Amino acid sequence: MRIAMLGTGYVGLVSGTCFSEFGTDVVCVDKDEAKIEGLRNGVIPIFEPGLETLVKKNAAAGRLSFSLDLAEAARDADAIFIAVGTPPGPQDGQADLSYVYQAAREIAAVLDGYKVIITKSTVPVGTGREVERIIREARPDADFDVVSNPEFLREGAAINDFMRPDRVVIGAESKRAQDVMAELYRPLYLIETPIIFTKLETSELIKYAGNAFLATKISFINQMADLCEKVGADVHQVAKGIGLDGRIGRKFLHAGPGYGGSCFPKDTQALAYTARANGAPVSLVEDVISYNAARKRGMADKVIAHCGGTVAGKKVAVLGLTFKPNTDDMRDSPSLDIIPILQAQGATVSAYDPEGMEEAKKLLSDVTYCTGAYQAMEGADVLVIVTEWNEFRRLDMDRVKSLLSAPLIVDLRNIYSPAEMAEDGFEYLSIGRPL
Ligand code: UGA
Repeated sequence: MRIAMLGTGYVGLVSGTCFSEFGTDVVCVDKDEAKIEGLRNGVIPIFEPGLETLVKKNAAAGRLSFSLDLAEAARDADAIFIAVGTPPGPQDGQADLSYVYQAAREIAAVLDGYKVIITKSTVPVGTGREVERIIREARPDADFDVVSNPEFLREGAAINDFMRPDRVVIGAESKRAQDVMAELYRPLYLIETPIIFTKLETSELIKYAGNAFLATKISFINQMADLCEKVGADVHQVAKGIGLDGRIGRKFLHAGPGYGGSCFPKDTQALAYTARANGAPVSLVEDVISYNAARKRGMADKVIAHCGGTVAGKKVAVLGLTFKPNTDDMRDSPSLDIIPILQAQGATVSAYDPEGMEEAKKLLSDVTYCTGAYQAMEGADVLVIVTEWNEFRRLDMDRVKSLLSAPLIVDLRNIYSPAEMAEDGFEYLSIGRPL
């Protein structure tokens, strides 16, 4: 098997590399010369645990290469994946598909012999059909099938998610296309991964419905956390108590400052848009979107309240800036809502994040970036934990207390025990748990 992977962004690079690890010959194509040159020299443009090792290993084995030349990559390929970006468009959460359609036109120009063309980027329902139309219009003679094959990778755990997925979803309508896809995913048949074949539109919708459901699940437990705070219940125990019901499940019931990242915010908005445009609005998802946005801003109020109603003239130490640990991704991170509000209320902010500070510098101004967690706390009036990086889970609390000017902690990820914090003499505020 041989494939061409268009786009060496997060999805393209991880998927291309993992397919090569499965023994497929993969050429990853991108228009960005510097990126391709870097990848050829083993420079990985994103932070993803385990990726660099796999790229180098498979490149050295000759199964993974990087190219600027789509025509050459496509010539001998059995399948061509479109994994280019789909940024949020100018209109009401609708994804901008111009890169996908441009890729379709470029593929049409180089088609020779039967090829399967697969959309791997997250694309709204109907995109695969439009890709098919674009290629057919440009090349009425061409022999091809368009397939939808959404990815379900989590940043920070992407390699494992690709190698050991809960399921693979393939929107392929012809036997020929199904056979090519089955061959590509053959290593997963050996570990009995469920592989679901559907129509194009169904596969596209599964991706959005999955992410919207997870965003809803998180928002549900976050609202329960709000209620727990009012009635003195413990959201951890509520999550466990409901999650042990197999119909609900324990995952994605961790209350926090609201979901962020490149997927949930964008995909929930795109789904809501598609649903409205098709006259079947998903009001539950619309509620989730507005609740989550308000929640992220509301976390700043929590900090202000814990500081006695004002942060004017105070120094706030922030630990964690990325939307979750094990990534340098700052997109839609709660820190981007919380920090500017605190600054507008007169606080100065010192922050530390193990991987996210370079990105954060582009997005947040007037923040003092520190070289470590303890440096950020020096002389701070309150410590706010925004992202649950492992290195924040076992801080030396005596040292923390000696560095802070007041023993105030706001833990937005519930990584410490309220009882232990009280014993250590902190005024500790977390999410949805009794003080
Ligand atoms: C998410 C999905 O989990 C993947 O299955 C999907 O493939 C991906 O989007 C995508 O569409 O590409 P990701 O955005 O990398 O993956 O991160 P998650 O681990 O799902 O976390 C998303 C956000 O939800 C984070 O801000 C996280 O802190 C938050 N979260 C997650 C919670 O607040 N509570 C939870 O219990 C779980």
